[in-house]
Formats: sequence, C-alpha cells, structure tokens
Amino acid sequence: MVARRPPGASVRSVPRLLRRGGIWAATIGLAVVLVAVLAAAGVASGQDALHPSSKPAPKDLVATASDFHNLATMTRVRGFFISNPLGHLKQALRVANSPKGGVYPVGTIIQLVPQEAMVKRRKGFNRATHDWEFFTLQTTALGTTITTRGTSNVVNRFGGSCQSCHSAAAPQFDFVCEHDHGCAPLPVGDDVIAAIQRADPRPLTPPGP
Ligand code: HEC
Repeated sequence: MVARRPPGASVRSVPRLLRRGGIWAATIGLAVVLVAVLAAAGVASGQDALHPSSKPAPKDLVATASDFHNLATMTRVRGFFISNPLGHLKQALRVANSPKGGVYPVGTIIQLVPQEAMVKRRKGFNRATHDWEFFTLQTTALGTTITTRGTSNVVNRFGGSCQSCHSAAAPQFDFVCEHDHGCAPLPVGDDVIAAIQRADPRPLTPPGP
C-alpha cells in the first residue's frame, strides 16, 4: 500500500519550502551585493590608476613661448625678474633673497631684459650650466617667440655666450651675476637696462594658473 501523506504534510512543507527559498534568496542577494562591491572596487581602482587624485609634481620645465610674459607680471628682485610656472616661486625667491645664495628650484625663469631668459631645467639636464637653459626671445605686442634656446650655443645681442659669462658667478649664486658675483659686466649701464625693461612691448595680462 502506498504510504499516504498525512493531510497536514503538504501544508507543513510550504513554510519549509518558503524557508528554503528565503535562504536561497538571501544567498543570491548576498552574492549580488558582493559582486557589486567587488565590481565597484575594481572600477574604483581602475579609475585611480587612470586618474590619480594627487598628480606628481612635474620635475622639468620644457618652456614654450607661453611660459614667458611681460616682465611687469613677474616678481621683481632688485634688478631682475623671476617666475616659476611649476609652482616653486616662494622657494626661488628665498634663494634670490638669501645673501648666501642657493640652488634655484626646477622651473625657475629669470630675466634681466625681455629678450633674454634663463630657465632652470631638471636635475642632470646639463652639468656645465648647472641645469640652466638659455633663451633669446622676440617680444612684440602679440607676445613672445623663442628665437634660440640651449646651453653653450646661445649668445646675447652683443655676441657674448650666456654660459661663459654666467658660469663666472660665484658658485653659491647658481649662475646669477648681478653686479658683484664675479661675472664680466654688460656693456650697458643700469639706466639703459631699466629703459629696456620698461619698454617690454608684451601684453600685461597676468600669467594663467
Ligand atoms: C658679458 C657677460 C654676459 C653675457 C654674455 C650674458 N650675460 Fe646675462 N648678465 C651679465 C651680468 C653682468 C648681469 C647682471 C647685470 C645687472 O644686474 O644689471 C647679467 C644678468 C642676467 C640675468 C639676470 C640675473 C643675473 O644673472 O643677474 C639674466 C637672466 C641673464 N643675464 C641672462 C643672460 C642670457 C640668457 C644671456 C645670453 C643670451 C646672457 N645673460 C649673456 C653678464 C652677461
């Protein structure tokens, strides 16, 4: 004889099934949550790799014409002008204003006149120039054009090599000559230099961020 289920059996099995179903639903739910969390973590870590929140500071300034601006928008130190598009202006000014001198931070731009500049490149750029790159610039009401750039190849308007003159500066002054650091003097007086500085024809729009 076939065993008959007691009448209440099917009724009792419903909550059991439901209970089992509940466990499955919870397990699946948990798995979905886990997958979502893992996926989110994966996406997040992928984004971090592509868009790191803290960008490493650039360690070199390969200057383009747009890095040079009217001298009046730079910071004046005695007779010359300083900027630092890499954000190290404070440090550069500390060196410029220290009687003991120091090494200028990477990215420092120094100018005496609108048409010439020296730019501090990355460490190891050129040992003979203490990592300075020299520039001659053409300046007009439209802005700046780079005419020549480099190291021993660059000469000023009088045919003198920037490198050979500036390398005579006492070592603690990092190639900055001024009047008393040991360089041969320029063949023009301070009054002429001041007039050339004031005559910078470039727009006065301040450098961007
Ligand atoms: C005859 C030597 C001589 C040559 C060549 C020369 N300079 Fe200078 N430079 C000086 C002297 C001296 C000063 C300081 C003048 C002053 O403070 O009025 C000076 C000042 C400067 C300054 C301001 C900071 C400092 O050193 O006092 C910069 C920047 C500069 N020169 C860049 C150049 C560049 C770029 C070249 C080449 C295109 C160049 N110089 C060629 C002698 C020279």
